[in-house]
Amino acid sequence: MGGLKGKEVLVTGGLGFIGSNLSIELVKAGAKVTIVDNMLPRQGGNLFNIKDIEDQVKVNFSDVRNQLSMNHLVKGKDFIFHLAGQVNHVDSMRNPIQDLDINCRGTLVLLEALRQYNRSAKVIFAGTRGEYGATVKLPVDEDHPTNPKGIYAVTNLTAEKMVLVYDDIYGIKGACLRITNTYGPRHQMAHDEYGVFNWFIRKAIDDDVIPVFGDGRILRDFLYVDDLVECMLMMTENEDVYGKVFNVGTGRPVSFIEIARKIVEIAGTGRVEFTEFTRERKEVEPGDYYADITRIRNTLGWEPKTSLEEGIRKTVDYYRRYKKEYW
Ligand SMILES: NC(=O)c1ccc[n+]([C@@H]2O[C@H](COP(=O)([O-])OP(=O)(O)OC[C@H]3O[C@@H](n4cnc5c(N)ncnc54)[C@H](O)[C@@H]3O)[C@@H](O)[C@H]2O)c1
Repeated sequence: MGGLKGKEVLVTGGLGFIGSNLSIELVKAGAKVTIVDNMLPRQGGNLFNIKDIEDQVKVNFSDVRNQLSMNHLVKGKDFIFHLAGQVNHVDSMRNPIQDLDINCRGTLVLLEALRQYNRSAKVIFAGTRGEYGATVKLPVDEDHPTNPKGIYAVTNLTAEKMVLVYDDIYGIKGACLRITNTYGPRHQMAHDEYGVFNWFIRKAIDDDVIPVFGDGRILRDFLYVDDLVECMLMMTENEDVYGKVFNVGTGRPVSFIEIARKIVEIAGTGRVEFTEFTRERKEVEPGDYYADITRIRNTLGWEPKTSLEEGIRKTVDYYRRYKKEYW
C-alpha cells in the first residue's frame, strides 16, 4: 500500500479487535496513526492489542462523543477509519440509549468535527451485515432490504446513512462497509455476548463444551480479520468507493455446527454440545446470512484469501500464546 506512506490516519476504536489489527498494518504501510478509544467496559479495547506498535502510534484516551476532542483529532488527517462503537448486540437491547448515544451521536460528532475542521479527510465506516436483518434472498447483495433486528443494527444503519449524507451534502468523502462476522487474533474473549466464533475458540482452548444453539444449522459468513484489514487498506487507494455501501465477507456459507466441529478438530481440544437458544439471543437472531461480494470485488479487485482452516489455526495459535491477556 505505497499510497499510505506518510499519510495521517485516525482510527476510532483502534484499541479494539478490528481497529488494532488495522493499526498494525497501517503502521507497516508507513502511515502516521492516531488511535482514539475510550476503553468502553465489556468491549474489545485492550492495550495489549497494540503492544507491537505502541511506540509507533499516538493513543488518545477519549470518547468519540466528545466534540472538543474530535475537533482536535480530525485536524490534518487524510483518512479516518471509524470503528468506535457499541458492538454488543445483547447490551444494545438492555441499554439501548447507550447504544444510540455511542453509535449515532458519536458518528455525528465525528462528522461535525470534519465539517468544521477538515472536509478533505476521507471516512471509512465499519457498519455491519446486521443492517439487513432477516434475509429474504441469499446471497445478500447491497440492494437487499434493510430490516434490522435489534437496536445495534438500527444504530449502525443510521450511522451509515449519516456518513452518506455528509458525503452527499458537504462533500466529505465517506465509504461504508457492511461487514460480516469477523474472527481472529485480538478479539475480546471475556464473554460470549459478541464474537461467537472467537468464543467457540476460547471454549476449545479451555477443553470445555462449545455450546451450539438450536440445531446449529444457521448459516453465516465468517471472515478472517487479516482479509478485512486488507480490504480496508485497499479502500484508501480507490476513489470509486465514496458515497457507496459495500458488503465485506467471503460469500461462502458455513453452519455453526460445522464451525464448532472444525475448531475442535484443529485445536485438538474441546467438544460440541447442542443447547437451547437463550431468550436474549433468539430475539436478535436474524437467521441465515452470507454475502454477495460482487460489488467490492469488482471495485477493488479484493478477494478474501484465508481459508477457514488457516484462519482457525492462526487464531488458536495466537490465543494459546497470549491467553493471559484475554481471558
Ligand atoms: N467484529 C465483527 O465481527 C464486526 C462485524 C461487523 C461490524 N463491526 C463493526 O466494527 C467496529 C469495530 O468492532 P470490533 O469487533 O473491533 O469491536 P471492539 O469492541 O473490539 O472494538 C470497538 C472499540 O471501540 C471502542 N469504543 C467504544 N465506544 C467508544 C467511544 N464512545 N469512544 C471511543 N471509543 C469507543 C471500544 O473501547 C473498543 O476498543 C464496530 O463499529 C462494529 O460494529 C464488527
